[in-house]
This record gives sequence, C-alpha cells and structure tokens, in this order.
Amino acid sequence: MKVLILGGNGMLGPWAIRSLEGRHRLRVTDINDAPEGFGHEYVRLDASDLDGVVRAAEGMDVIVNLSVLREDRQLAFDVSTRGNYNMMLAARRHGIRRVVNTGPHFQLAGPQYEEWDFGLNPDMPPAPGTRLYALSKALGQEICRVFSERHGIQVIMLHYYNMKHADTLGVAYERAELHDDLTPFSVAWPDAGDAIRCAVEVPESRLDSSCESFFVFSDLPHDKFLNEKIRRVLGWRPRYQMEPLWNKRVAGG
Ligand SMILES: NC(=O)c1ccc[n+]([C@@H]2O[C@H](COP(=O)([O-])OP(=O)(O)OC[C@H]3O[C@@H](n4cnc5c(N)ncnc54)[C@H](O)[C@@H]3O)[C@@H](O)[C@H]2O)c1
Repeated sequence: MKVLILGGNGMLGPWAIRSLEGRHRLRVTDINDAPEGFGHEYVRLDASDLDGVVRAAEGMDVIVNLSVLREDRQLAFDVSTRGNYNMMLAARRHGIRRVVNTGPHFQLAGPQYEEWDFGLNPDMPPAPGTRLYALSKALGQEICRVFSERHGIQVIMLHYYNMKHADTLGVAYERAELHDDLTPFSVAWPDAGDAIRCAVEVPESRLDSSCESFFVFSDLPHDKFLNEKIRRVLGWRPRYQMEPLWNKRVAGG
C-alpha cells in the first residue's frame, strides 16, 4: 500500500518507518527537513496547511498521523486539532479509506481515571481533562471520529505514553536512573513502531466500527491498563516486556 506519514521525522517516526518499509511505499512528511540520506520520498509539510496536506495525500491508500506539538497553545491546536481536520478532509477528497491517528494515553485516560482506577480499556469514555497536549489531541481525535461516521473512513487510534529503548530493558536494577520515570503505560520503541504497521494492515473485517481505539503498551503485572484489545483485534504482540524494570531492589539489598 501507499502510506502517507505526517510528522514522520520525530521520535516515533523512524520506528514506524522501520516497521513499514519493504512492505509499503512510504511518503514521509514533516515540518522539518529530512534526515541526511533519508531513503524514502520526503515532503516538507506543515500539518496545519490544508492545501499542502491535500496535495501530499494524493494517490495514497492510508494516512498515518504522528505529528504533535505539545507546548504552545496556538501551535498545539494548529497541529493536533486543525491538522486532524486537514488530514480527514484530505482523506475524504482522495477517497482514502483508512487513517491511523496517534496520541498520548491520557487524552483518553485522563487524571481522574489514572489515579484510582484499574482495568482501564480503550473503549471507556474519553476524559482528557484540561491539559493542552491531551485536550488538543482529544479534540483532533473527535474530528476523526465524526469523519469516520459520516464519510466511511476507517480511523484507528493508537494511544501511547512512555517509550523505552529495547537495549535497556534487560539491564539490572543497579542503573537506577533507568527506573526513575517508569510508568505502567510503557512500551519499547520497536513495538511502538510495529503497532503502526498492524494498524495499517489489519483487515477492515476485524474492526467492530469505523473508529476504533487501542492502548499500546507491554503486558503489565497489575492490569491497571489493558492491552487485550490491541492483541486480539490488531494481532499486535509486544516483543519486549518490562519485567526487569518492575523488580526494584532496595539499594544495597
Ligand atoms: N514519544 C512519546 O513518548 C509519546 C508518548 C505518547 C504519545 N505519543 C504520540 O506519538 C506520536 C508521535 O510522537 P513523537 O514522540 O514522535 O513526537 P515528536 O515530537 O518526536 O514528533 C512529532 C513530529 O511532529 C512534527 N511536527 C510538529 N509540528 C508540525 C506541523 N505543524 N506539521 C507537521 N509536523 C509537525 C515535529 O517536527 C516532529 O517531527 C504523537 O501523536 C504523540 O502524541 C508519543
């Protein structure tokens, strides 16, 4: 398939590309310049530029959106909310049947869920709260959902939070700095990239509705969040687990 990637030159982009390349033809876009020696078609593109997004989507089968701007109030909405509107208009204009959108888990499982609840799943009502990043992304996803229902575009939403480098996962606990930011919602970068491929390739017949959300993280010992749905529906399997990071040893113990 021909896959357009928006915001493909950030942290997740290279892992998504690694998982997709060789299987699909990629047109990668980002507001910044291509890395030196980049091996795929590359277009410099601002996701908030409607005409540019429509042009970039021409001839594509799937759009994958990895673009995000987290800090600035105007730009966050331009990229994460208006950018999604542009992406969906472009999909509609060109008859593109599938869009894979991405964002943080807390745009769905906001603070009131995260502090107390267990067994959280990606089909619960979104509760992004008022944080700029979560809210701008949640509104963008809402736009995707409306387009999916009205125009028959299949939207697959992947929720991430905390990515880990696979080569640190087997490291013994003595390197305590590795564990400072351990959150339950963690996944290794290669697995994060593979989830994009699974979303691009899953047959439509496996999806229950035109807009489906998934949590992407490794298996957890406490089931605070559930990854059963992405395993069952997208056929995604985490190759890397977090056990060594959970086994905390007291210093000197
Ligand atoms: N990295 C993480 O830990 C993490 C965690 C949770 C969710 N996510 C989600 O994963 C996706 C990818 O995030 P990432 O980690 O690669 O972020 P990133 O900030 O590294 O990359 C985002 C990319 O978007 C690009 N961008 C910014 N403004 C743009 C614009 N106007 N037009 C086009 N591109 C623009 C940036 O140049 C950058 O390359 C996002 O949807 C993000 O919300 C990431």
